[in-house]
Amino acid sequence: MATICPSILSADFSRLAEEIQDVEQKGADCIHLDLMDGHFVPNLTFGTPVIASLRSCTVLPFDAHLMVEHPETYVADLAKAGVQYVTVHQEACVHLDRLLQQIHEAGMKGGIALNPATPVDTLSCLADQLDMILIMSVNPGFGGQKFIPYALNKIAAAKKMLLEAGNIQAVIEVDGGINSNTVQAVKKAGADFLVAGSAIFGAEDRRAAISALR
Ligand code: DX5
Ligand code: ZN
Repeated sequence: MATICPSILSADFSRLAEEIQDVEQKGADCIHLDLMDGHFVPNLTFGTPVIASLRSCTVLPFDAHLMVEHPETYVADLAKAGVQYVTVHQEACVHLDRLLQQIHEAGMKGGIALNPATPVDTLSCLADQLDMILIMSVNPGFGGQKFIPYALNKIAAAKKMLLEAGNIQAVIEVDGGINSNTVQAVKKAGADFLVAGSAIFGAEDRRAAISALR
């Protein structure tokens, strides 16, 4: 069964605590937090103080997706804020091995995200150490974009790479353009964690939207 991770990028930012509690009550498994710095991606969202103040409003795990330059400078504060999963972009970091160690030493699970045009085998040396591979199925920065079909091959390739490395604990997360039309193919390709922003927060019936994805 897929783990459903609503992305609060599509929530009402003036009522974030209520929005998170609403999706928790309606069946969400995990809260996806999109950090954007206006440099790595052309959009700006929120940082660690906002995450820290949201921590007490839900018992669900926090899954932070860092679309920022210099992701290493955020790790200690994310741990203090009570985040469980930290995912950094391969394209934003030269010293990925060191950063993964830093995330683990801070007591969190570490993932690496790949932009649509970045091949999966760039992570082959780290396959046995990763807790998550995040396959972006849109170009990062905005909610509500169209699913990029070639991401499906990357999901399957990432799954295969992890299994060949003997890493059966790691999960494949997929982010971008997931809705009732695209979800079946995403799950069939091997996704474990499904991120959805507009398909959940934009739905009239959020409970039905969550169960349709699951
Ligand atoms: C995009 C973000 C996503 C975004 C997905 O850069 O990483 O998490 O919220 O939004 P939808 O589900 O609307 O494509
Ligand atoms: Zn995201």
